[in-house]
Formats: sequence, structure tokens, C-alpha cells
Amino acid sequence: MKEVNLNIPVKVVAYDELDEKQKTLVDIAREATLRSYAPYSNFKVGAAIALSNGEVIPGSNQENVAYPSGTCAERSACFYAHARYPEAKFEAIAIAARGTDDEFVETPAAPCGACRQSLLEYETLAGHDVEVILAGAKDIYVLKSVKSLLPLAFDSF
Ligand code: THU
Repeated sequence: MKEVNLNIPVKVVAYDELDEKQKTLVDIAREATLRSYAPYSNFKVGAAIALSNGEVIPGSNQENVAYPSGTCAERSACFYAHARYPEAKFEAIAIAARGTDDEFVETPAAPCGACRQSLLEYETLAGHDVEVILAGAKDIYVLKSVKSLLPLAFDSF
């Protein structure tokens, strides 16, 4: 029997330790939470994707009375980003969330499985790592790639 240990390196930093580009991305993700439409969960998620053409695409979760019809912030951002700028490569994504008390969450919100799979597609298209920044109220988790968040991902058949 052989055992493989999968390891997800996460840097835990404070906002002030981010570089200017990372700070801007976090600011835009936090601001995007204000445009979340989340009347059912009251959990407001914002995302911001930095593209190789210099654009930053925000997204927020958009819920629906028929629950499964809604979508997460990360997918609203990545699908729009690629629909609007199909030639641009993804460089980094930041994610922020506010809970039912309307405050930014202490523990950074991480993308759901479906969002990880969707984001991985654009990382593969980019041909390089896409940094993932998960912004909590104080602690900010920085991961080097989407792939690191989705070990043993399905790739192609
Ligand atoms: N949500 C996101 O926007 N991103 C995630 O990765 C996880 C969950 C949203 C979906 C739903 O609108 C709300 O958060 C509660 O699950």
C-alpha cells in the first residue's frame, strides 16, 4: 500500500502585508459584496478577478427563489470575465463575504466545489497559476493557484 499526502499551502497574512495589486483586488471583492443579491441566505459574497488586459471583473452571488437557479460570486465573475474578454488570461481572484450580521466574516470564505472546478478551467486556459486570495475580516489566506484548492481534480477524458 502506498499513501499520498496532499498538501495545500496557505499563507495567512494581514491586509497591510499584501502588495498594492492584491489590496486593490481585495477592495473590489469586498465592495462587490454590496451588490450581492442574497435575500434567502443573507450571506453576501463578492469576488474580483484580475485579467491580463488590466481589467478587474467583479462578481457577487445572485440568488433565486428557486434556490438552485442562483449562482455564486466566483462563478458570476468568472463566467462574465470570459464572456466579456475571451482573449484575456486570469491572473488572480479575491473573494470576500459578509455574514448575516452584515460584517465581513472572520474565517475567510472559500469557494464551493463547483466554483473551484469552474475557476480551474480558466486557470488551465491561462496556462499559469491564478493566485487565490480569500479575505476574512482580519486574516487573509493567499493560495498560489486554483489547482492547489482542488487536488486530484478531474481534468479531461
Ligand atoms: N456562495 C458563493 O457566492 N460562493 C461560494 O463559493 C459559496 C457560497 C453563495 C451561494 C449562496 O448565495 C450563499 O453564498 C449561501 O450559500
